[in-house]
Formats: sequence, C-alpha cells, structure tokens
Amino acid sequence: MTLNLDLLKIPKHVAIIMDGNGRWAKKQGLDRIHGHLHGVKVVKDIVKISNELQVNYLTLYAFSVENWNRPKEEVDALMELLAETIANETQELHQNNVRLRVIGNLTELTPKASQLFSEAMTLTQNNTSLNLIMALNYSSHSEINTALKKMFHYLQSNQLDSKDITPTLFQQFLDTADIPNPDLLIRTGGEFRVSNFLLYQIAYSELYFTQTLWPDFNAQSFINAIEDYQKRQRRFGMTSEQIANTNIYT
Ligand code: IPE
Ligand code: IPE
Ligand code: MG
Repeated sequence: MTLNLDLLKIPKHVAIIMDGNGRWAKKQGLDRIHGHLHGVKVVKDIVKISNELQVNYLTLYAFSVENWNRPKEEVDALMELLAETIANETQELHQNNVRLRVIGNLTELTPKASQLFSEAMTLTQNNTSLNLIMALNYSSHSEINTALKKMFHYLQSNQLDSKDITPTLFQQFLDTADIPNPDLLIRTGGEFRVSNFLLYQIAYSELYFTQTLWPDFNAQSFINAIEDYQKRQRRFGMTSEQIANTNIYT
C-alpha cells in the first residue's frame, strides 16, 4: 500500500455511493447477491482504513428508497444481509470505538434489521472515534420532505417563527442535523450521477468518480481518492488568492 497522503489534510467527512455490486457479480457469472456479499467485505476494509486515517465521519449509501423497486428476491436478500452484517459486526465496531448512526427511515426496514440497527446505535452512542453513518432506506427527497413537514408542524404550533427560518436552521431538521457536510463524495461503479444522495449536503463537496466496481474497491483505492482530493483547491466561491492563505482543513 502506498501512502502519499498529507495526514494533516484528511477530509473530516467522506461519503460513498457504493455502486457496482450487481455488475461485478455478473462479470463472474454469479448472482447479484454475491456482489453484495463481497461488497460487505469491502465495507469492513474501508471502515478500518477510515478509522486509521482518523476520518471523523464516513457515510455509506447502502440502500436507497428507490432500491425497494428491485426484484423482491434481491430486496429480501439485501435486508437479510444488512441484519446479518450488523449482528456480526457490532461488537467489533464497539471495540474499535466506532459510533454507528443511521440516516434514512429505519422503521420501514424489516423489524429484525431495524431492531438490530437501533440496538447497535444505542450501544455505540458514546463512542468517540469514527462516526459510521449508514444511509438506509434513504433518499434526499424523502429527507427534505420529512424536514419540511417537521418544520411546518413547528410553525403551526407557534414553536417557530417564519422569520427565523435560515439555511442553518433548516439543516437542523435534516437527518444529518449535527453532522458536518461531506468534504469528499466518492462514487464507485462508473456512473456520473448522485442518485438522490445527500443533495442538500454536497453543495460544496469535492466529487470523485471511479470506474472501479464496489467489490473491487479497497483501502488503496480509498487512499487514492483522498490523494486526489488533497490536490484540489476548495474555493467556496472565493478567488484562488483569497484561499491561498487560508487553511480550509481545520
Ligand atoms: C450497489 O450495487 C448496491 C446497492 C444499490 C444496494 P448495485 O446493486 O446497484 O450494482 P449495479 O449498479 O447493478 O452493478
Ligand atoms: C445508488 O445506487 C444507491 C446505493 C448505492 C445504495 P443505484 O444502483 O441504486 O443507483 P442508480 O439506480 O444506478 O442511479
Ligand atoms: Mg447500481
């Protein structure tokens, strides 16, 4: 493994659209679920390297609201795999001081998966190393819709005044309320789209697309993405000259 990283410029929050499991399986003449099974191994490696590099937040898109439209056998297998994985991995996550969080609507998952995730979140809630955020039954449009409904309820019950609505306040109604926005968004699998993921939060994220299918992604691929990120100049609407003397990594 080659590490040409500047350890002082590690992104605080990396979000990943883990795509390409199905195509990976097809290439090997296997069922799609084998791609997902292999994808879980990659998740473990990426959680490990993220923790080692002291990334603070890692958000993984594991199941979108739109993914319910897949064939029933695949959806059932994915739900079973999610439940099985969290049951197997919670202790190790806890030992490694990882805090597990979920964005998306957990209550609509199978009762078994939903309960296991809830228990794992409670167990790890005081952990202080990596925040591992699983996007499950997540879509940005649903998240924003739910946020608007909550805000409307606050307005109607006079707990909120419309003049107090600001972008900062609105962000507090999202699932990611106390989570900083991603610095780096990675998508594997070769598609150049964001598929309803963190649309509000990626306003100023650096985007990294790779052809590598998720089951072929590994710690070195993750490091390569961060290296690429470190070569970029994030300007946030300002000029290069203004940015040159600012440390945006702290
Ligand atoms: C991503 O891989 C995993 C999920 C969406 C659950 P895909 O299953 O979308 O794989 P491809 O894109 O069909 O290859
Ligand atoms: C995005 O992948 C969702 C996840 C990785 C969980 P998809 O495979 O569902 O995205 P599209 O359908 O190709 O846009
Ligand atoms: Mg896909």
